[in-house]
Amino acid sequence: ERKNMLYSEKVMDHFQNPRNVGKMEDADGVGEVGNAKCGDIMRMYIKVNQEDQTISDVKFNTFGCGSAIATSSMATEMIKGKKIDEALELSNRAVVEALDGLPPAKIHCSVLAEEAVKAAVKDYYDKNGIAYDHEKFQS
Ligand code: FES
Ligand code: FES
Repeated sequence: ERKNMLYSEKVMDHFQNPRNVGKMEDADGVGEVGNAKCGDIMRMYIKVNQEDQTISDVKFNTFGCGSAIATSSMATEMIKGKKIDEALELSNRAVVEALDGLPPAKIHCSVLAEEAVKAAVKDYYDKNGIAYDHEKFQS
């Protein structure tokens, strides 16, 4: 059988069976970002445990391509249960590594996931009057 040379097994798995897809009606933070290169949109929802400031739940929706779906799916798994400020440190590079790589032409798709997580965290901070370092939100 011919192997798929472009996409790793993990990418195919997360694309075909994405984790944490959907809407969240009672989200504590919602981030929506668009990809300037293709016009695709990503929306990320987070639920925050107020006691320990961890992300207790996360969901995403996207009209993006397969690589955007796979990277968002992996990103949601990587931030679930983490402290909210740890989630802010998640880079698209780390997500791509966790997926065993993406074709070079698809790397920019993974930026959507990172930016959507950051936007959701920022929304949570803004809604709750939490001060933050603005530099963390520059890509
Ligand atoms: Fe179009 Fe990734 S944004 S190929
Ligand atoms: Fe748009 Fe990949 S082609 S996110």
